[in-house]
Amino acid sequence: MNRKKILAISGSTRINSINSAYIKALSELYADRLEIFVYKDLSGLPHFNPDHDIEPAPEAVADLRKQLRAADGVLICTPEYAMGVPGTLKNAIDWTVSSCEFSHKPVMLITAASMGEKAHESLLGTLKIIEANVAETNLLIPYAKTKISTDTKITDAETLGKIKEIMRIFIETIGK
Ligand SMILES: Cc1cc2nc3c(=O)[nH]c(=O)nc-3n(C[C@H](O)[C@H](O)[C@H](O)COP(=O)(O)O)c2cc1C
Repeated sequence: MNRKKILAISGSTRINSINSAYIKALSELYADRLEIFVYKDLSGLPHFNPDHDIEPAPEAVADLRKQLRAADGVLICTPEYAMGVPGTLKNAIDWTVSSCEFSHKPVMLITAASMGEKAHESLLGTLKIIEANVAETNLLIPYAKTKISTDTKITDAETLGKIKEIMRIFIETIGK
């Protein structure tokens, strides 16, 4: 089967990140249908500055944009920091506003945090304004640490059910 290419971005750069664990769990669950590449340079991006948002783009920015363009869809898994979106993730997205890589791109957004409501809502607003296709493919997972095992299996049946439902829509959207 021709697997679709998904670029996964973890909003946490922590080594033992729960969000990275959710990405790994999804990579394993959907290995037959999706080829999930993890974006590795979130910390390497320069701070967004509109003065530098010109051609040629900084090398790390050009690389992010290229990886986004090459992907059939994007999976974002992020924590909430201080009632908001982690700065590193927002920084990466800001670099794509003028270049429009998210425009009409199928995006699956998971906010996996202790609570996460504010970050989820805020990121949904950002993704919508840059025209990402995310309205039906987003999920907030509160108490996220308690719902995944150390060997990256999603252990909470309700969460797994919701993930499967939005993943079904995500895969369907990518296939269109
Ligand atoms: C600096 C900092 C601020 C945080 N603020 C919030 C918050 O406002 N709301 C929340 O739900 N969780 C908050 N958390 C908890 C994280 O969402 C939680 O630890 C999450 O699992 C971190 O994701 P990670 O494991 O992928 O790194 C915060 C964590 C840190 C380190």
